[in-house]
Amino acid sequence: GSSAASLIQRNPLFSSLDSKDVSHFKEILGEKNVIEDKERLETANTDWMHKYKGSSKLMLLPKNTEEVSQILEYCDSRRLAVVPQGGNTGLVGGSVPVFDEVIINVGLMNKVLAFDEVSGVLVCEAGCILENLATFLDRKGFIMPLDLGAKGSCHIGGNVSTNAGGLRLIRYGSLHGTVLGLEAVTANGNVLDMLGTLRKDNTGYDLKHLFIGSEGSLGIVTKVSILTQPKLSSVNLAFIACKDYLSCQKLLVEAKRNLGEILSAFEFLDNNSMDLVLNHLDGVRNPVSSSENFYILIETTGSDETNDREKLEAFLLKSLEKGLVSDGVIAQDINQASSFWRIREGITEALQKAGAVYKYDLSLPVEEIYNIVNDLRGRLGDLANVMGYGHLGDGNLHLNISAAEYNDKLLGLIEPYVYEWTSKHRGSISAEHGLGVMKANEIFYSKSPETVALMASIKKLLDPKGILNPYKVLPHSLFSH
Ligand code: FAD
Ligand code: MLT
Ligand code: ZN
Repeated sequence: GSSAASLIQRNPLFSSLDSKDVSHFKEILGEKNVIEDKERLETANTDWMHKYKGSSKLMLLPKNTEEVSQILEYCDSRRLAVVPQGGNTGLVGGSVPVFDEVIINVGLMNKVLAFDEVSGVLVCEAGCILENLATFLDRKGFIMPLDLGAKGSCHIGGNVSTNAGGLRLIRYGSLHGTVLGLEAVTANGNVLDMLGTLRKDNTGYDLKHLFIGSEGSLGIVTKVSILTQPKLSSVNLAFIACKDYLSCQKLLVEAKRNLGEILSAFEFLDNNSMDLVLNHLDGVRNPVSSSENFYILIETTGSDETNDREKLEAFLLKSLEKGLVSDGVIAQDINQASSFWRIREGITEALQKAGAVYKYDLSLPVEEIYNIVNDLRGRLGDLANVMGYGHLGDGNLHLNISAAEYNDKLLGLIEPYVYEWTSKHRGSISAEHGLGVMKANEIFYSKSPETVALMASIKKLLDPKGILNPYKVLPHSLFSH
C-alpha cells in the first residue's frame, strides 16, 4: 500500500530514544504530557486512512511555545528526529512517523488569544480545532475563511502547515492571503515571532510564507493570526445534475459571470462518487430525482436575502433552459443544505469504508480535468473504481482509485502514469494536500531541479541536522548524507 514509505531506509545519523531522553522530556513537560501508553501511540502512529504507520515510542504534548522550544532544542542537540502532528487528518502520510520519530502534538495549545471585531483578525494557538474556531466566531458574527470536511478534528496549525484549501477558497483565497502572521519554532528551538495582525506589511522578506504549506519540515507552528470574514445573512445552496463534463465547465463560466459577487463554492462529483456515498454512508439520498453523470454544488453567500435567492433561482432556471443542467434543487433550509454538503464532504469517508484507496490531488486546467479520469478508467478497466470529485471552481481534481485491497500491479498501472499526465499538462501533483511521504520523491513532476535545490538549501539553513519531519516533502536522497 504505502510503497513510498516502504522504500525508505531509516537515516542512521539519527539517535535512538533512550530512557535519559524520556526523563528529560518529563522534566520539561511533566509526567502526564509525555505519552508512552501503547494504545495512544498506536493511534498517533497511524494516519487517517490507515495506510501509513510508524513505530514511535513517544508522543510529547507541550502546553506552550516555551515547552515546544525546549523540546526542539534538546532533540536537535541529541539529533532525535521528530514529527509535528495536529489533528492527524492529513492524506499524504505527513503527520505520522515513518520510523521511530518522536511525535510532537500541539493539541493542548488550543486557546483563542485575541479577536478584533473591527478588523476581524483572530489570533489563536496552533492546536485549536477548526470547528471550535468556527463556533467561537459564529457567536461573534464572523466565519473562518476556510472550511473542510475534516473540520471536527483538524487543527488550524495543521491547516496552515499544509496550506489547506477546502470548500471556500474560490471566495476567500488561500491561506497565503488570509494568514496575516504566525509564530513558529525552528529545529534549534529558536522562536520566530511573526505574529503580525496587519493586512499590509512590506518590511523585508515575508518569512511566514515559508511555514504555510511546508508540512512541518521547517518548524513547528505555535500561533496563528488569521483574517476572518463577517457572517452574511443569506447563504443558499443548489444541488445540480449535469449530463456531461463540458456542461459542468460551461456552468462554471456562467456562474462566475452571473453570480460573481455572491459565489462562495463551486464543487463537483461524478456519478461513481455519488454511488459510493449512497452505498457506504447512512441516511444519504440523492437530492435530484434521477441519477446523472455529474453533480455540482453551488453555494452563494451575500447580504440581501431576497435578491440573492432570486438570483440563484434565475440562474438555475436559465441554465435548465439552455440545457446546461438537467435537474437542480435549492436547499429549503439549513438542514437540507447540510444534507447536500454531507454528500460532497462524505466522499473521503465513504472511500475509506470501501476498502483500499489511491488518492491523487491534482491542479489542472479546467478543460483537462475529466480527461485524466476517463483515461485512467480506460487503463484500469475493471481492476478498480475510478472516481473524480473536487473543487472545480479552483481547478482542483481529487482523482481517487478505489479497490478491494492495495496491490502492486494496480499501483504500477497508476504511477507514474498519473504524475506524467499531470506534468505534461503543467499541472500540480499536489494541489492542496501536500507531498508528505507519499510524494516527496515525485516533487520534480511539478517543480524544476533548480527550485528543489533552493528548497533543500532553505531546509538545511533552518534545520541543519534534518530532524524536522524527515523523509517528507523533499526527496530523502538530498539529506541522507
Ligand atoms: P495533520 O494531519 O496532523 O498534519 C498534516 C501535516 O502538517 C503534517 O506534515 C504535519 O507534520 C504538519 N503539521 C501539523 N501541525 C503542525 C504544526 N503545528 N506545525 C508544523 N507542522 C504541523 N485538505 C484540504 O486542503 N482541503 C480539503 O477540503 C480537505 N478535506 C479533508 C476532508 C477529510 C474528511 C479529511 C480526512 C482530510 C481532508 N483534508 C483536506 C486533508 C487534511 O485535513 C488537511 O490537510 C488538514 O489541513 C490537516 O490538518 P491536521 O491538523 O489534521 O494536520
Ligand atoms: C476533499 O475535498 O474532499 C478533500 O480534499 C479530501 C479528499 O480529497 O478526499
Ligand atoms: Zn479537497
